[in-house]
Amino acid sequence: MERLQLQARVWEPEAEVMLDMIGVASGWRCIDLGCGALGLLGPMSRRAGPKGEVTGVDMDAKQLAAARAYVAAEDLKNVKVLELDAYNTRLPRESFDLTHVRFVFAPVGREADLLREMIALTRPGGTIAIQEPDAASWNSYPPHPSWKKVKEIILAAFSAGGGDFNAGARTFGMLRRAGLGDVRIRAAVIALQDKHPYMRSPVQFATSLRKRIVEGKLATEAELDKLLAECEKIVNDPDRFSLTFTVTQVWGRKPS
Ligand SMILES: C[S@@+](CC[C@H](N)C(=O)[O-])C[C@H]1O[C@@H](n2cnc3c(N)ncnc32)[C@H](O)[C@@H]1O
Repeated sequence: MERLQLQARVWEPEAEVMLDMIGVASGWRCIDLGCGALGLLGPMSRRAGPKGEVTGVDMDAKQLAAARAYVAAEDLKNVKVLELDAYNTRLPRESFDLTHVRFVFAPVGREADLLREMIALTRPGGTIAIQEPDAASWNSYPPHPSWKKVKEIILAAFSAGGGDFNAGARTFGMLRRAGLGDVRIRAAVIALQDKHPYMRSPVQFATSLRKRIVEGKLATEAELDKLLAECEKIVNDPDRFSLTFTVTQVWGRKPS
């Protein structure tokens, strides 16, 4: 939860740029599938305004509770949060101006099903937008073997769970092949320094994936503990900086 909330806040300025490039404006009906605790609910709500509406969808009870608490605390009157399967929402077809997903293709996979649902939810002429990671830029500097090993283990754990950490490398092609019009792409990388909490993201990812890592024999408990202890030291070193993974933002228009 902590990792996802931090992640959403770190990427919020980049999400805002994307929403402005798409042209999200007053009166828009937006949906954020797999919104987690924050997702893009705030940035979408601000742009859609009182004449628009924003729907957040998730299936995880803790994420839903956190999202609802956030919406109440920020008094986002145009936002509702629904407990639904993002892959099969049963919401009215062709009813949204913008259908958005971030960081769901990479961990969950089943790409064709999710894209099909996104397209079905979007009105003709509406926009489908996807933000997913590509690990190529993800590193700590100067490079360190333990940090690199943890990254390798995380990528393997995503694959073992049916996902693909590098889904962001393929989403542009996915939208083009799906026949969407005017497919645009933007990529964002953030440099982190001064022990920024998001520099710990590999430690947080590996911690949340621990069970899958150990059961999949990607590392033993002891190996993982040792690697994570080394990573903690690395990210707490004020002489170091990190680059995030790249977030690939792609969007396109459903033909009218
Ligand atoms: C890595 S988090 C990303 C959260 C949010 N999109 C963000 O970028 O801040 C993935 C989210 O997708 C949700 N999720 C996964 N599978 C789902 C499904 N089938 N239906 C709805 N939500 C799902 C998880 O509960 C989790 O909140």
